[in-house]
Amino acid sequence: MKFSIKSGNPEKLRSACVVVGVYANSKLSDAAARIDDVSKKFLTKLLHQGDMDGKLGTTLLLHGVAGIESSRVLLVGLGNEKSFTESAFRTAISAAIKLLNSLGGEDAAIFLTDLKVRKHDAAWRARQATLVTHEACYRFDSLKSKPSPAKQSLKKVDFIFSRSNDVKLANHGLAQGEAMAIGSNFTKDLGNLPGNMCTPSYLAEQAMALAKEFKLDVQVLDRDEMAALGMNTLLSVARGSHEPPKLIVLHHMLGKKNEKPVVLVGKGITFDTGGISLKPGPEMDEMKYDMCGAGSVLGTMKAAALLKLPINLIGIIAAAENMPGSKATKPGDIVTSLAGLTIEILNTDAEGRLVLCDALTYAERFDPACVVDIATLTGACVIALGHVASGLYSNDDAFAAELLDAGQISGDRAWQMPLWVEYHEGLKSNFADLANIAGRAGGSITAARFLSSFTEKYTWAHLDIAGTAWKSGKEKGATGRPVPLLTHFLIARAGMEKNISRKRS
Ligand code: BES
Ligand code: MN
Ligand code: ZN
Repeated sequence: MKFSIKSGNPEKLRSACVVVGVYANSKLSDAAARIDDVSKKFLTKLLHQGDMDGKLGTTLLLHGVAGIESSRVLLVGLGNEKSFTESAFRTAISAAIKLLNSLGGEDAAIFLTDLKVRKHDAAWRARQATLVTHEACYRFDSLKSKPSPAKQSLKKVDFIFSRSNDVKLANHGLAQGEAMAIGSNFTKDLGNLPGNMCTPSYLAEQAMALAKEFKLDVQVLDRDEMAALGMNTLLSVARGSHEPPKLIVLHHMLGKKNEKPVVLVGKGITFDTGGISLKPGPEMDEMKYDMCGAGSVLGTMKAAALLKLPINLIGIIAAAENMPGSKATKPGDIVTSLAGLTIEILNTDAEGRLVLCDALTYAERFDPACVVDIATLTGACVIALGHVASGLYSNDDAFAAELLDAGQISGDRAWQMPLWVEYHEGLKSNFADLANIAGRAGGSITAARFLSSFTEKYTWAHLDIAGTAWKSGKEKGATGRPVPLLTHFLIARAGMEKNISRKRS
């Protein structure tokens, strides 16, 4: 797909389709009003007839409208003008793209990007529109023997910005949106690949390919190297599987020489059977997505590399397969973590925190400015926050606020949860320093609290993406989240955010 930022009049632009908005109660947007004028009030007539009322996300396709150069006009419902905020903007763009893809034309001039969205500038509108367009066009059909019959006609999209001041901002936003979308698509592809293909070794190969493409440094530690370091907790998860575990480290060092790096740590369980604490059968296939934290580290590093962000950034991936083989860790086994804390593994299905705690200790060696770990960590987080917000935990509220802002602005939201000491109670063990589970209550919080024992030496945040990394049901598939959040966070850190709006709502 080719994107560009253009300015121009809706009646003069020559394209397969001009896309303009109509608010609820048939109120025309500026671009729609112009078309109405040159077509002798054709739109007004249609709206009077009741063919469209401007309800959010509805569409009406018109052919051969008099007085305009383009062959088609697509009216898109915007809903109430007062409530035309972030999510309505995304819904309108998405509805337009989906419809355009089902038509004959290959290009479109989209005027929806010229609409006012409260608190946001042209950079934001271009960034979001690009992201949403990619989202609406994503397909994963590489494993079907015949390509999917679904039509996908759009090849070129022009986002229109009529104010000349907006064009430069919009071009910035477009570049950022494209990088985020390419990064997110990479994450989606990795998440959608099944466990027999996307193994820890495959993740390592992907990291090496990324390093080669963008000239990043990469290291891959194997089982023996991890054992020599004392990463027993991570290794305890891999024991039941024939797939060898990998610790993958990527370095993007485009910041100042002595600037401390941002470190991203991803949970990369390429399949989670639960181990000896075996999971029930139904929907177990979804546990192929248990590497989406790792996938989002790779996707974000790709976005950062595409944007050549002037920051120091390190990605660490703890990759293993959780299987119930004959050598598998058993409930009650005790292991010594890299940090030296002993852990009683009461449930082998609480494996994410086990691979992460060693990777988080490993992160200390980079003297990080801050560390964010990303993990499909708990089913409890899905119960708490559903599929809307990722769970955010942090030992530093200012840092948490930075990430919450990035989530709000990128439309990839997170919600902060507590890490109070009271939640530590259940993690106490009669036999070791820590137990790896603490009962059903507050399961997402106690998992985060477990991790917090390993992150006392630096500024840290944890994103539980169990509910946001994929969709279940008919549209089953990876979402690419939280790549937009993380990329936006890095853009802001790099001082490359061309968006004045930083307020949360
Ligand atoms: N990968 C799962 C968490 C998960 C569950 C993600 C459902 C997405 C959807 C994790 O390894 C796990 O199994 N967690 C257990 C923890 C429990 C044993 C304390 C859970 O959430 O049930
Ligand atoms: Mn598990
Ligand atoms: Zn898991």
